[in-house]
Amino acid sequence: MERKPSIHSMYQTQIIGTGSCLPKRVLTNKDLEDIVDTSDKWITRRTGIKERHISSNNENETTTELATQASLKAIEMAGIENQDIDLIITGTVTSDRQFPSTSCMVQDSLKATRAAGFDVSAGCSGFLYALSIADNAIRCGTSKTALVIGVDRLSSITNWLDRSTCVLLADGAGAVVLNSTTENQGILSTHIRSDGALWELLYSSPGNSYSPKILNDLDQMTYHLRMEGKRLFKKAINCLTSIAKEALQYNSLSSSDINLVVPHQANQRIIEGLAKSLAIPLEKMYSNIQLFGNTSSASIPIALDNANREGLIKKNDYVLLSSFGAGLTWASSILNWSR
Ligand code: UT7
Repeated sequence: MERKPSIHSMYQTQIIGTGSCLPKRVLTNKDLEDIVDTSDKWITRRTGIKERHISSNNENETTTELATQASLKAIEMAGIENQDIDLIITGTVTSDRQFPSTSCMVQDSLKATRAAGFDVSAGCSGFLYALSIADNAIRCGTSKTALVIGVDRLSSITNWLDRSTCVLLADGAGAVVLNSTTENQGILSTHIRSDGALWELLYSSPGNSYSPKILNDLDQMTYHLRMEGKRLFKKAINCLTSIAKEALQYNSLSSSDINLVVPHQANQRIIEGLAKSLAIPLEKMYSNIQLFGNTSSASIPIALDNANREGLIKKNDYVLLSSFGAGLTWASSILNWSR
């Protein structure tokens, strides 16, 4: 499928600001040794993670607040007014409330009264799914300035007795500001896929409408994440690779054209597997998993913001984003950096 700009698509989308926010509290591998039967050595060797940030309601580190702080940084970099935003889309599976959406809560915090807001549930691919929808809205001309957020507080659904998952999961938020341009730069394409038949590889235990609180013992309502890590590991590398290759082919680009890959941060060994199967040198794979663990929907926008602020992305660079998560879902995008 080669890239053929649609005759209707006189607009393209560019990223004009990035931002991120991490909770204050840092939980190290050593700290985890006191909670479950694990070791710094095992976690580092099998995942690449050394520490992660865990949020606290006492610090007002709610999903809404983390998302708002990340958005404010992205808005400041973009140099726009909150009133310019006409669309807010948030990828999350851990909003503060079942409803209203995190996007509407953030809209209120920002007083972005001209915007329409809604959330997307696509596991760790939530941010790229949201980016895809916002990109299409801008290309269609229905949005001019959009705020796309990836935020999760996986600590709120972590089973802290399960060593196979609690050492991986973390909290954080990332955001980008998008605007409409008539230049042939910015988001070149987005690609989204899912396979619901494999949902049991990664899911939260029953909650919400499946198991209404009123009918059940409150203890059973604890809303935990469950994962079949080994099967997911192989699937992750395959899906991240196939969707990245789809984006390259669509834009008639090859691996060697890519200046930086910003992949989902689930496991350093998955990032290395992706590098190998795309034949991209490890130096071009952005990784901050050592410091932040797996922040789900937030992992790509946090990594993109870090890479951007570290000066690793220059004007005209090709940046490849690739994600994978619960659903199963996977997604990619290629950016031709325009700033
Ligand atoms: O973001 C969404 C997508 N997420 C993913 O794609 C995650 C994909 N999966 C993974 O990253 C890896 O499979 C894990 C990090 C979850 C697990 O690594 P692994 O190398 O696949 O380990 P394993 O599950 O095969 O377990 C190996 C051993 C087992 O012990 P035995 O049976 O060999 O005696 C586990 O019980 O390691 C044990 N183990 C641990 N030991 C110390 C599992 N977790 C831990 C732990 N500390 N935290």
